[in-house]
Amino acid sequence: MNAIDYLRISLVDRCNFRCQYCMPEGADLSYVLQQDLITHDELLTLLQEVFIPIGFTRFRLTGGEPLIRPDVVEIVRAIATLPETQDLSMTTNAFYLEKLAQPLYEAGLRRINISLDSLKPDVFDQIIGNRGRTRWQSVWNGIQAAHQVGFNPLKLNVVVIPGVNDSEILDLAALSLDREWHIRFIEFMPIGNGDLFSDRGWVASEDLRRQICDRWGLTEGQVRGNGPADIFQIPGAKGTLGFISQMSECFCDRCNRMRLSADGWLRPCLLNETGQIDLKGGLRSGVPLSDLRCQVRELVFLKPEINYKERDSGTTGRYARTMSQIGG
Ligand code: GTP
Ligand code: 5AD
Ligand code: SF4
Repeated sequence: MNAIDYLRISLVDRCNFRCQYCMPEGADLSYVLQQDLITHDELLTLLQEVFIPIGFTRFRLTGGEPLIRPDVVEIVRAIATLPETQDLSMTTNAFYLEKLAQPLYEAGLRRINISLDSLKPDVFDQIIGNRGRTRWQSVWNGIQAAHQVGFNPLKLNVVVIPGVNDSEILDLAALSLDREWHIRFIEFMPIGNGDLFSDRGWVASEDLRRQICDRWGLTEGQVRGNGPADIFQIPGAKGTLGFISQMSECFCDRCNRMRLSADGWLRPCLLNETGQIDLKGGLRSGVPLSDLRCQVRELVFLKPEINYKERDSGTTGRYARTMSQIGG
């Protein structure tokens, strides 16, 4: 059986962007109230007293947008300092990274995944739902800052949307040629994005690989990571190309992760809330840590059967939660 030792921790469900595929205009985004967010101390207690004792050693900070959380650098420092932490990473939109790359690195963060869906500022702004000044340049500056500070591996996530950014696949793949950047093409998933998915559909990774292979050739590649990406490389390129193919392929049988939401619920699966546990509620009402540990151990045990359960409902557009609410 797969070891389940990777926890994705959502620090906040809000975001300064409104990506159409993640938290589209019109979606019911009833945000978590400030007082209901899991605190720095509660998170640390859960990691030290519940997750680490039962074998979790790899942690990823997500959102919404994790960098809008004022104590994000302190949280990174605290988790990076735990002797049991084997891997600590973050998924961000990079808007605030130009300023925060250095403090995050100094606090102990070493690898980072950044959403970059387009190299064209107008397309980018359309995707992120920007109505004002373009945000592309700030994101690009954030990526450059992360590169200069030394984040490695530095991964760029591209959700491929037909008719929106699929004409840029080769340009985006070319970013891996002379920089050690790892570009990941993600099949668009119907999670709380309703109309956009039904209007546009998705592109299979296999089609993208064919395009890239026709242009440059493609071999197998390797990069450090805990996620479901299949890794390839353009011959001679410094970086790699990853393909996350949750629509064309089911990788539930190798799922190694659980998710902690910004309000402290532990969920066993991206698409499935069966057996979810209100860990923050438990902490605040004084449930003994040994009991919480038992509950989590039980959910880890049950996860393999839960994995497949609602895959279909999660992939037919009926799923109500947005990606920002689940934590990506
Ligand atoms: P690495 O450790 O760098 O491999 O990270 P990762 O790929 O796990 O993290 P990231 O936050 O960059 O996620 C990239 C994409 O993979 C996102 O679109 C996620 O939603 C998708 N993804 C991550 N975990 C799951 C999962 O459990 N199930 C499905 N279906 N998709 C997932
Ligand atoms: N389909 C596929 N990927 C998505 N992401 C957000 N929403 C979706 C979706 N509907 C990706 C973003 C981000 C990562 C955490 O999840 O690109 O990088
Ligand atoms: Fe924000 Fe990331 Fe969702 Fe875009 S994908 S809205 S940047 S949380």
